[in-house]
Amino acid sequence: MELIEGELEQIQAETEAVLQNHGTERPELIPIIQEVQEKLGYLPKEAMKQIAKTLEIPEVDVYSLATFYNQFRLNPPGKHQIKVCMGTACHMMGGHIILDSFERRLEIEEGETTPDREFSLERVACVGCCALAPVVVVDEKVEAKVSPIRVDGILLTFEIDKKEQEKQQQEEGGQEE
Ligand code: FES
Repeated sequence: MELIEGELEQIQAETEAVLQNHGTERPELIPIIQEVQEKLGYLPKEAMKQIAKTLEIPEVDVYSLATFYNQFRLNPPGKHQIKVCMGTACHMMGGHIILDSFERRLEIEEGETTPDREFSLERVACVGCCALAPVVVVDEKVEAKVSPIRVDGILLTFEIDKKEQEKQQQEEGGQEE
């Protein structure tokens, strides 16, 4: 994932601050990566390298641990977070088709974030409203009985909103001149 301007400095500073609060023994690894994720919203590979160096352990050990537990995310959260339910009821009602539609439309795989950081896509376990299957949670809003057409509709709404905002910003910028 490409870093945006100033992000590397922020990652290094936050990771360093977390490392300062911990010892350099191996058992510190999990609490360290938990805390770094809390601060940054995800675990960038630059942070994992920094942690490995400080703890004097191979980078691959940090990476393996981060990928073993699904509480860790390796990609930054998008501005809009799309969670496709893959619990049994949703799966039976075509949840995988919905996930596939998002992957194709956004050109990313589940677990990834679009390069412009607008959307991140993930699969989640049952979100507790099986009667509405297949369910997608978009920025905390539950979308019920989602079809591939609805996938297009959801993304189109965001595109329209974004264009509107850009237009408004341009107009405001024009007024200031
Ligand atoms: S399985 Fe999707 S809401 Fe329960």
